[in-house]
Amino acid sequence: MRTYLVTGGAGFIGSNYIHYMFGKYGDDIKIINVDLLTYAGNPENLKEVEGRDNYTFIKADICDREAITKIFAENEIDSVIHFAAESHVDRSIKNPEVFVMTNVLGTATMLNAARAAWEKEDGTYPEGKRFLHVSTDEVFGSLPEGEGYFYEDTPYAPHSPYSASKAGSDMLVKAYMDTYHFPANITNCSNNYGPYQFPEKLIPLMINNALQGKKLPVYGDGKNVRDWLYVEDHAKAIDMVCENGRLFETYNVGGHNEKENIEIVKTIIQVLKEELPADDARQAHLNEDLITYVEDRKGHDRRYAIAPDKIKKELGWEPDTMFADGIRKTIRWYFDHAAWMENVTSGAYQKYYEEMYSTK
Ligand code: NAD
Ligand code: TYD
Repeated sequence: MRTYLVTGGAGFIGSNYIHYMFGKYGDDIKIINVDLLTYAGNPENLKEVEGRDNYTFIKADICDREAITKIFAENEIDSVIHFAAESHVDRSIKNPEVFVMTNVLGTATMLNAARAAWEKEDGTYPEGKRFLHVSTDEVFGSLPEGEGYFYEDTPYAPHSPYSASKAGSDMLVKAYMDTYHFPANITNCSNNYGPYQFPEKLIPLMINNALQGKKLPVYGDGKNVRDWLYVEDHAKAIDMVCENGRLFETYNVGGHNEKENIEIVKTIIQVLKEELPADDARQAHLNEDLITYVEDRKGHDRRYAIAPDKIKKELGWEPDTMFADGIRKTIRWYFDHAAWMENVTSGAYQKYYEEMYSTK
């Protein structure tokens, strides 16, 4: 039975990954989820798996060397799937230091602990050990409109404190592979969307605001392009890399689904109108008048677009969910989980929202 140490499993992608893995492997795997439960970590995302005998949750900081070392000492970990990070660009612009702490120092701590636990005296590693570092396409910087793609060998050119800290963490993983022959992979994925995404990110923020008749704050001219992937397809890619990826390789993950932000916002309004009953009172305010252009994000990257040729060719990965279906599924999920949204938008998040958008 393989044991996975998942970091940041209470966040958006991590919790979707854990659901995907138990859905696929059932009782044949063991998952240990280490999460500090920051504002972005929500144990409610995992309540269906909490009772499983093959699932353990540990509240710990990935920067806490003692706590992480103890987890490796007490468990025979086969695979580390490292999601834990500070993940929101706007927050990184307001408060960069915590991004360096968690994303760079936290990754260094994870790498160090895994190496100490796994490396044999002769400097080799037992068969089957693998550290999979989950990263982003934002490390590659920004592409011109309508021209070019990010490949695995595209030079790094991060612009935001978030992407710079992720680039730093990727470089550490590369250094461990080069220096210690440490068995790792890096995946660089495009923007994800789907269930359990915290409503500070574009898609859930717009769904939540539109339902409440609040303005829809579009940064700049709304023509920045992101390459959207349904989160379950990312979980599938991570599993495929972990199962069959060549060690020491990087894999880009994305589904060729580029969209301007303004198109996303208009699609959300449209799908919400279609999905709500015709006599629902909210139909009255659901229209494009809600769209408000606000001050642009500082250093706003213009376009991201992934070339997923390598993961397709080597591992046969392809996305299963196209955007038209994925956005509808996502909107339905938010309809069905109104209490989830209520819980995460109360208290601390409300304060953050006011701080972030009061000047926009
Ligand atoms: P998220 O912000 O939803 O979740 C992050 C999780 O990490 C939370 O559960 C949080 O509690 C935990 N965490 C934060 N600091 C921690 C610490 N010091 N110790 C332990 N746990 C800590 O993020 P996400 O969107 O799920 O992203 C997960 C990973 O995937 C990140 O590494 C991110 O860079 C990467 N990624 C995200 C996207 C995207 O579109 N969201 C795309 C590509 C890659
Ligand atoms: P986001 O979801 O924060 O992801 P990232 O910046 O990591 O790509 O933002 C996606 C795009 O949407 C990005 O171009 C910024 C834009 N955006 C808005 O226009 N308004 C908003 O309120 C937010 C949160 C994002």
